Amino acid sequence: MCGIVGYTGSDTAAPLLLEALRRLEYRGYDSAGIAALAGDHLGLVRAVGKLDNLAARLAEQPLAGTCGIGHTRWATHGGVTEANAHPHSADGRIAVVHNGIIENYAALRAELEAAGANFASQTDSEVLAHLFAAGFAKGLGPLAVLQGVLARIEGAWALAAVSLDAPGVIMIARNASPLAVGLADGFSLIASDASAMAQNCGQVLYLKDDDYGLVTPAGPQIYDRNNQPANREALRISASPVMVDKAGYRHFMEKEIHEQPDSVAHTLAAMTGPDGQLTAGLQTAQLKAVSGLVLLAAGTSHYAALIGKYWIERLAGLPVAVELASEYHYRQPVAGPFSHALVISQSGESLDTLMAMRHAAAMGLQTLGLVNVPDSTIAREAEAVLPTRAGPEIGVASTKAFTAQLTVLFAVALALGRTHGRLEKQQAGQLHEAVLTMPGAIGRALSCVPQIQQIAKQLVLSHSVLFLGRDLLYPLALEGALKLKEISYLHAEGFAAGEMKHGPIALIEPGLPVIGLVSQDALQAKTISNLREAEARGADLYLISCGAAGEQVDFARQIVEMPACNPLLAPLLLAIPAQILAWQAALEKGTDVDQPRNLAKSVTVE
Ligand code: G6P
Repeated sequence: MCGIVGYTGSDTAAPLLLEALRRLEYRGYDSAGIAALAGDHLGLVRAVGKLDNLAARLAEQPLAGTCGIGHTRWATHGGVTEANAHPHSADGRIAVVHNGIIENYAALRAELEAAGANFASQTDSEVLAHLFAAGFAKGLGPLAVLQGVLARIEGAWALAAVSLDAPGVIMIARNASPLAVGLADGFSLIASDASAMAQNCGQVLYLKDDDYGLVTPAGPQIYDRNNQPANREALRISASPVMVDKAGYRHFMEKEIHEQPDSVAHTLAAMTGPDGQLTAGLQTAQLKAVSGLVLLAAGTSHYAALIGKYWIERLAGLPVAVELASEYHYRQPVAGPFSHALVISQSGESLDTLMAMRHAAAMGLQTLGLVNVPDSTIAREAEAVLPTRAGPEIGVASTKAFTAQLTVLFAVALALGRTHGRLEKQQAGQLHEAVLTMPGAIGRALSCVPQIQQIAKQLVLSHSVLFLGRDLLYPLALEGALKLKEISYLHAEGFAAGEMKHGPIALIEPGLPVIGLVSQDALQAKTISNLREAEARGADLYLISCGAAGEQVDFARQIVEMPACNPLLAPLLLAIPAQILAWQAALEKGTDVDQPRNLAKSVTVE
């Protein structure tokens, strides 16, 4: 999603800003730009497409100046054009970058145009540039101009602006979109994502909603919504330089798929209490206080939540509802039997999920944040944090964060089952042992790449692919289809295998690839029967199974057999071949594996 960076100090800003933007590249964007103040000249360079295009422009037209801002844009208002790329300027003296949405931009634009302003883009953000320009034209100082702009706008923003009328100063503000200031000696940085500053600053401070202020080389001066000076706590940055290193792999997604034995093991370690039991990091009293859970999430995290629901209901006997974060807070949900909201987000920044969490908190639910980025907004706002220890995930399509989320959810289910008396000590012990074997099983599962490559070659010849599974493997069918769509752009759908006969079976035609997901669970025979119904109508069946479940099937074109595991844990294991299938299909099609078109890693708009 859109990224903001800024620098003010004594070095030339543009190369530093370009480097910082590169660290945000993984979030997904479609154009980029940089502006810098050099004496009495405001330099501005923008380009559509990848940062290499911007770098090429900067090589032709270097930007001087030691104070500047940069942006990667993910289009919302207005198409992907250079004119719509940020920074925006109004009068050649001001440059502004913005993440979020200015909801009243149409009224503001009409007012500004009536007063003589000429707009150069279709974006909502450009109104900010004109508002800043109007403020400076009145002779006000930067703080007063910023206050004036903020008084006029509605919506969500992280914004940064520089002006020839305020040399060396970056004006910043935040409401609903993240923004942080990096602390250093002799210079200051700002960024929408602390990872952009990790190389240069050991500590950051995060703005809170409605904060604003001025940043100079000496540091920031922040004000809160009551216009009082605000001291925001400086925190150590957890992101590391390893983020930009593919460690010899061609793509981050490939690297992240292969890291899963470690990321699941690390997450399990973090979920283990001092007595060696899986506690999910929660105290017994906290676990006992749970009478029911609402799971709130988006995208892949939502599919992890669906699997979590099956586990928690089965192992703990507690009511669980899974909600799409983008729907939850708009439809007047009832708190019902739920005591807690478990909010699942890799980035911890998805705006839909953050707003759903705030809605749940306002309804009186206790909030638990299951996040991979420990200093994210959701982590900071949740009452308790359940961390995944997957490490930075850079590929837009989530892989290791998904399996780490599943690991935490299984630990939560087990811990709740134990404390609520649903699981006998011995049963809990067996399940704990079973999950401890998963890092090893995932490691062995990774050897299926050559076989899956052959299947991917067939898949990409088709116009559509179906994924079928039952029970715990139904949400995985949804996730397998999502992965394929996201990075190979192949149309794919996941269905509960038992639902096929109620409609989707009409899609089956000769040669349609169907991926069947099967484990040795109680529904194995029923799933296989559903797959046979598809095959009998001409589908090409590819089976992904574990623990010899595939031996019952003599009608599959290929069977990808995973190691044996407890059927309860099958989604954690079969996620690996599903991810590999999407990755291999993307390689076959030559698509951008790590930064698929139109997608963003962290979606900070509604
Ligand atoms: C975006 C990404 C998805 C991700 C979803 C939720 O849409 O493209 O891959 O699953 O956001 O992200 P989160 O960080 O909240 O888990």
